[in-house]
Amino acid sequence: MDPIDIHGCYFYNEDCITGAREHIPDDSIDLIITDPPYGINGGQLHLHYNRNEKHVLDGYIEVPSSEYPTFSINWIKEAERILKPGGSIYIISGYTNLFHILNALHQTELREINHIIWKYNFGVFTRKKYVSSHYHILYYEKPGESRTFNVESRYGLNEKNPNGGSSNYRDREDVWEIPREYKPRRLKNKNELPDDLLVKMMQYSSNEGDLVCDFFLGGFSTARVAIGLNRKLIGFELSSQIFWAKIDEMKSIIPGELFHDLRKPELFRRENQGKSWSSEDLILLAERFIQLTEEGTSKKDTIGILQHEFKRGYWSIERALKKNI
Ligand SMILES: C[S@@+](CC[C@H](N)C(=O)[O-])C[C@H]1O[C@@H](n2cnc3c(N)ncnc32)[C@H](O)[C@@H]1O
Repeated sequence: MDPIDIHGCYFYNEDCITGAREHIPDDSIDLIITDPPYGINGGQLHLHYNRNEKHVLDGYIEVPSSEYPTFSINWIKEAERILKPGGSIYIISGYTNLFHILNALHQTELREINHIIWKYNFGVFTRKKYVSSHYHILYYEKPGESRTFNVESRYGLNEKNPNGGSSNYRDREDVWEIPREYKPRRLKNKNELPDDLLVKMMQYSSNEGDLVCDFFLGGFSTARVAIGLNRKLIGFELSSQIFWAKIDEMKSIIPGELFHDLRKPELFRRENQGKSWSSEDLILLAERFIQLTEEGTSKKDTIGILQHEFKRGYWSIERALKKNI
């Protein structure tokens, strides 16, 4: 089929495996964010969740558990092919079939960066065991080029939270507490991902104008956020019922509209950051390091003092010391 083109993004009501083969060239995608069907009879998920199903879209297409291993290998191989070297992929998965996804990833050259736990609210209801309230997010890269990771896209490296800890460090821990959204009247997919989760992945792992791909659009949440952050998107949804119920919503999104809601990180630059070291400064640095540590100053405090004196960042001081002492 021809894609539906909205804001320069391409949407296909097709199977993602054959669709990707037909429409997406090798090494062309900057970032993949995708949430495959769980292979656990997703049509019955509402029996576990305590929510009104009136606004949940019908038509969700599940993959039988017997087909899940091959299905996972087939789509993940396509994902590997279309990703640019240096491109990133985030796969959201429950725990039941996680091992099939991990096994499929093992059969590619994709490299693990982080195994993130997303802790959400509205856990699955249970009486005789613990309440399950997390998903796994597998963050991998295609090796070959340097990967986009915008370390200060949300919090500057020197920003502190009210307890005095680093906000940047906190935001980059690999356990994310992000609530699922409660959208009272909006028509949504089963398991629709919250915008905040998608915004976070896109801020760290892509830039404006980058091409993002979602193999399993569902409620088109990835597309909504990609357009809202001025990224381009290409995506697939096999269910005609879901595809045609959601596609029109994409027209009403204004490209870049989400930027208003984003906090502005306080970026911190030291005067000499990025400049190469002169041999005189390197000698001086080594002398000051020895002097301060001999006086009993801890290594951490010494580097803090040297950062101030040499007007450079932590890692620059640390690297220069390693090379010269
Ligand atoms: C877990 S949902 C995605 C939810 C989505 N991330 C969201 O936030 O709404 C998986 C979706 O994949 C669709 N799907 C199942 N098999 C597919 C296939 N082979 N190709 C494309 N889409 C498929 C299902 O109909 C379902 O809507």
